Amino acid sequence: MYEATVSAPVNIACIKYWGKRDTKLILPTNSSLSVTLDQDHLRSTTTSRADESFEKGDRLWLNGKEETIKQGGRLGVCISELRGWRKIEEDKDSSLPKLSQWPLRIASYNNFPTAAGLASSASGLAALVASLAKLFQLPQNASQLSIIARQGSGSACRSLFGGYVAWREGTEKDGSDSLAEQIESETHWPEIHALICVVSDAKKGTSSTSGMQRTVETSTLLKERLNLVPSRMNDISQAIRSKNFEKFAILTMKDSNSFHSVCLDTFPPIFYLNDVSKSIIQVIEELNRSSGKIIAAYTFDAGPNAVIYSLQENIGKVIGAIKKFFPTEEDNQVDPFNTKPEELPVDFNE
Ligand code: ADP
Ligand code: DP6
Ligand code: CO
Repeated sequence: MYEATVSAPVNIACIKYWGKRDTKLILPTNSSLSVTLDQDHLRSTTTSRADESFEKGDRLWLNGKEETIKQGGRLGVCISELRGWRKIEEDKDSSLPKLSQWPLRIASYNNFPTAAGLASSASGLAALVASLAKLFQLPQNASQLSIIARQGSGSACRSLFGGYVAWREGTEKDGSDSLAEQIESETHWPEIHALICVVSDAKKGTSSTSGMQRTVETSTLLKERLNLVPSRMNDISQAIRSKNFEKFAILTMKDSNSFHSVCLDTFPPIFYLNDVSKSIIQVIEELNRSSGKIIAAYTFDAGPNAVIYSLQENIGKVIGAIKKFFPTEEDNQVDPFNTKPEELPVDFNE
């Protein structure tokens, strides 16, 4: 039996992907840009096994529960593309074991909520592609693999790189230039931190796939958003390159708001943000106002959970503000006054 295990981290987009121009190949309506989080935090870990003696047919388990692999479906496409690349290697070198002909058994675990708007499809499909590429010992580089991961879940193409990653929408009809590339490495701006605020770990009501399709079909505001994205891509790349946090933060918050506006403009509308998410936006806006400069940026994917970007020097202040307004049960237990969130004083400068 041959086996390979790989972990892939989550990536959180600052300029969001929302809309497909080709639903089969997963070609986006716009380029996007994200930050890949640290391996040690939110990640998917996938083990792939190939053995001649396995019963016919590939099988996959996600968090211990079997998922069906449909031929021509997303998982099926990723597996068959990578198998095809393995076959090319086997044809070149007859001494290689014929892994391309053997059934696969794949097991994946997420160490964070699945399908809750924390980009599990990104880390999940990236880990799947990377584990099969390792099992098959493929020579393809990360950008080439990103073309396959993209067909599993669009956002997954960006999780094959660390650091700051752009997914170029591309112009080719076959999707051969719709791929991810690293614009800056993970060591470029180590002072930046991402604070994940889990508002709800429940599975979302509208998946990203069906939500964005409905947006493409019904939202007139999407057209306006698409006009804005190219300059935002340039500006945020520039901000990252020059480590201009304020510029990075404004673009990130504006693009998150623009994405959620487009969701509201979808018919029937999609509500990913809940009241707690909106309060988090207000807390960050107030924190920035009272600081006299922008020290934190919120962004929300297709779910109510917030990701807050901040620099090391301010992260304590950001955590303090969040904890003050949204104490966890643990915080409540040590609070001698047992104050409720709404009774807390609004003073960020203490
Ligand atoms: P999210 O906001 O978490 O990315 P999506 O609606 O985009 O939510 O995608 C969730 C789906 O992604 C899951 O229902 C599952 O089909 C797939 N997925 C998530 N994690 C994995 C994984 N580790 N391996 C394979 N597929 C995964
Ligand atoms: C809001 O990549 O999950 O997180 O391609 O249909 O699988 P599919 O969708 P998915 O969409 C992600 C949307 C987003 C923004 C982003 O990550 O860029
Ligand atoms: Co997703």
